[in-house]
Amino acid sequence: MTDPQQALARLMTTALAAAFGPEYSGADPLIRPSQFADYQSNVALPLAKRLSRPPREIAAELASHLGSSEVVETTAVSGPGFINLTLRDDWIAAEATAELTDPRLDVALAHPAQRVVVDYSSPNVAREMHVGHLRTTVVGDAVVRVLEYLGDSVIRANHLGDWGTQFGMLLEHLLDVGEEAANAQLAAGEINAFYQAANAKFKADPAFAERSRKRVVALQAGDPETLRLWSMLISDTKKYYNSIYGRLGVTLTDADLAPESFYNAMLADVCDELQAKGVAVISDGALCAFPAGFTGRDGAPLPLILRKSDGGYGYASTDMAAIRYRIRDLHADRIIYVVGSEQAQHFAMVFAVAREAGWLTDAVSAEHATIGLVTGADRKRFRTRTGSSVKLSDLINEAVERAEEVIEDRYDDRELRAQIAEAVGIGALKYADLSVARDSGYVLDFDRMLALTGNTGPYLQYATARIRSIFRKAGIDVDQAKGPIQITEGAERALALQLLGFGAAVWQVSEAAEPHKLAAFLFETASAFTTFYEKCPVLQAPEESVRSSRLALSALTLRVLLTGLDLLGIPVPERM
Ligand code: ARG
Repeated sequence: MTDPQQALARLMTTALAAAFGPEYSGADPLIRPSQFADYQSNVALPLAKRLSRPPREIAAELASHLGSSEVVETTAVSGPGFINLTLRDDWIAAEATAELTDPRLDVALAHPAQRVVVDYSSPNVAREMHVGHLRTTVVGDAVVRVLEYLGDSVIRANHLGDWGTQFGMLLEHLLDVGEEAANAQLAAGEINAFYQAANAKFKADPAFAERSRKRVVALQAGDPETLRLWSMLISDTKKYYNSIYGRLGVTLTDADLAPESFYNAMLADVCDELQAKGVAVISDGALCAFPAGFTGRDGAPLPLILRKSDGGYGYASTDMAAIRYRIRDLHADRIIYVVGSEQAQHFAMVFAVAREAGWLTDAVSAEHATIGLVTGADRKRFRTRTGSSVKLSDLINEAVERAEEVIEDRYDDRELRAQIAEAVGIGALKYADLSVARDSGYVLDFDRMLALTGNTGPYLQYATARIRSIFRKAGIDVDQAKGPIQITEGAERALALQLLGFGAAVWQVSEAAEPHKLAAFLFETASAFTTFYEKCPVLQAPEESVRSSRLALSALTLRVLLTGLDLLGIPVPERM
């Protein structure tokens, strides 16, 4: 493991034991990036109390034990007791050279590997779909890619909303429209329009509303003709989602569908178990759980409704069945729900009830990876240019069309240009979702996401294209650059040191399901490369060994960027 922060932490642990005894080796070495050196350790400050000595004195003693080594060039005490650490150029160069020849780029494997269920994308057939589902899809897929890269065994769960009382009106509307017309409309992604038309009729036409209610009863009773229409509705919608996933390069397939209807057969048993355990009670005819600590505005306990008084099941019932299934049958060690922040309370209650039921124990981690709202320039929920609700495929088309404007004058070959535009447009759209902390909202702004400078998809794609062009000019293959890497300039050093942090950046994504940490790392990497490229001639390097070192640094940068972008699910064109 060449991550500098970890290498320093290990040295500091040894120094702590040497200076104050083995019982001190467990102290967190508190290694942080520093403005005055490569890193600093703040460990002396919390130790002052335990050792009853001034922190500066502790820092000085640790510094003398650290001294200089293969890793550390200089150690200096500063301020109230910080230990500033400067790495050796040779060490950085050797580690970077080693990273270049490591197929895993020095990213450690999970040990032990975990079984992780990731619930993501999860759009609805029966409710209005919104651009937020694009974000849960893109963020969830990046998390999945990273976990698999780290060796975890991942179960993707697309919790498609394919069940519920709204299906009554959708099915009646389908009959009104005619099967064929409905098929075409849904497969083309007009889900919102279809839903809105059904809903308008439901509100305005009592006879339609009555038919719809009867249809719900028939659906729940398993009436074959109703089930046939329902399956048709779902399969049309699936076609549309699959076309979106395919175009976005999202790894979800039909095999990952664990839709709401999948849990229907478990609902009665889940309710019985919760009731038998005393976790759920009948309240006003409904079966409810009142998990401890959840109260409404009036101070009254908040119910999680498991079975309505009419015997019907809802969203919460399904989630209780899903969490039990994931823990008991899928044996998950970790469950990550990539879902909008507006459902925070719902998941907090689901987890609390699962804990009271004894399903969720300390051996399992259940996490709601909250997703913030994507808004238009008006800071309201995003709408299209025409003001109607957004069709995801239109959004993608718009990104690609605008990408074409960005790269237009650069390529005459129309097909090549279309290919590049597709990668740039989709990359920009996805990266905009991924580069912002997932729980903060952001304004969807095509101009900003397509800018060639700043923390954008196109900037990172462009950095890779530039490195590839260096190799084309050099007339050698990227894989042929083996170094060794050496350090002759500050910009080389900064780039090499940056590249050593790749493993840590990938691991940070896993810790709290936060892809933006990797995005930030890749952006810093591309920026460090830009500086290096401005300051250090590669092909015109003063000496052959420097030239081959710089080619190796460029090759390592390319591999880190390509691997990182792939983990985020960002497509990369060969040229730009
Ligand atoms: N279909 C839901 C929605 O769009 C998201 C489902 C999330 N997953 C879950 N297990 N509840 O709001």
